[in-house]
Amino acid sequence: MKILVTGGTGYIGSHTCCELLENDFEVVIVDNFFNSSPDVVGKIEEISKKKVSFYEGDVCDKAFLKGVFEKEKIDAVIHFAGYKAVGESVKKPLMYYRNNLDSTITLLEVMQEFGCKKIVFSSSATVYGNPEKLPITEDFPLHTTNPYGTTKLMIEDILKDLYVSDNDWAIAILRYFNPIGAHKSGLIGENPNGIPNNLMPYIVKVANHELEQLSVFGNDYNTVDGTGVRDYIHVVDLAKGHIKAIEKVLKDNGVDAYNLGTGNGYSVLQLVNTFMEVNGINVPYKIVERRSGDIDACYASTDKANEKLNWHAELGIEEMCRDAYNFVLKNK
Ligand code: NAD
Ligand code: UFG
Repeated sequence: MKILVTGGTGYIGSHTCCELLENDFEVVIVDNFFNSSPDVVGKIEEISKKKVSFYEGDVCDKAFLKGVFEKEKIDAVIHFAGYKAVGESVKKPLMYYRNNLDSTITLLEVMQEFGCKKIVFSSSATVYGNPEKLPITEDFPLHTTNPYGTTKLMIEDILKDLYVSDNDWAIAILRYFNPIGAHKSGLIGENPNGIPNNLMPYIVKVANHELEQLSVFGNDYNTVDGTGVRDYIHVVDLAKGHIKAIEKVLKDNGVDAYNLGTGNGYSVLQLVNTFMEVNGINVPYKIVERRSGDIDACYASTDKANEKLNWHAELGIEEMCRDAYNFVLKNK
């Protein structure tokens, strides 16, 4: 089976390509390197000891994408390509709507034209907004608080409408919680440019002396120690969830959404302390004001993914902290 992975040189895409290859899928990657670099292709091949087909280009470019489908007989698609920075999306909403929606609609049109109707889509727990209770199940009301989140919700609706129009489609919507960590080889991982927005990339840069200290955004939340609680999931576990989702869409038509998280919530300070302990390194931090738009706590119910995809996360926050730092050490 040949799987097209859009955004396959990105953080989650690259780990998923490795899992696909390990499970004997053939992999075709399309990426325009907006947020990744060409050397990732070689690293995926080094880890898996297998070859991938790679096409540099924009998923919004229909002629380019049709060329890929003409050359390769694609059985199913995993669609990661998109922009993902919440803060940037507030400042540049049109850029987010253009890229995330255009890439998805173009991709779906080309898939339809080539009779390939099986897709796994990267959504986000951000579609739950500020949940009224926890853990979050997939049937919770959906609403968003920023343009990035709205693109995800709009795409979920597009996919649902598409299935209503044509029951031959098989669509898995995966709502990721907070992916962190890296492949154990240290060859691939998360490497944001500039000052990171997210917690783990920031911790890692402080540990690596690239940034002075971590700002902990608020300690007066309604949580175990007052700092924000999230459901951190090891990126390799997340990647494995995509294998289960691909197996599902290759087997069953329909459209369904699944949470991919561990079901456990950890606070900012719990994560920082675990990072320091596991890696034997100090991460100086100070408590500052809340970051606007943040919520107290967010963690998944994983029952549906357990039951319907036969998937559950296996790695804990110790492994997440160890592997995130290992990636930095190996890439100094
Ligand atoms: P990433 O930025 O590392 O990877 C996305 C990849 O897509 C990049 O390599 C980028 O160059 C590519 N890309 C973007 N627009 C493109 C286009 N028009 N044509 C071709 N390539 C394009 O991000 P990631 O963390 O791997 O996230 C992957 C997906 O998962 C995204 O859709 C993101 O919104 C979603 N997601 C991520 C998180 C997270 O915390 N990382 C959480 C929830 C959902
Ligand atoms: N935090 C800090 N200091 C930092 C960065 C973050 O204290 O420098 C705190 C936040 O306040 C929050 C927690 O660490 O309590 C996690 O913050 P992240 O920015 O790492 O993650 P979020 O949960 O805010 O957002 C992430 C993704 C979004 C996605 C959302 C839900 O960045 O794209 O998860 O899946 F929408």
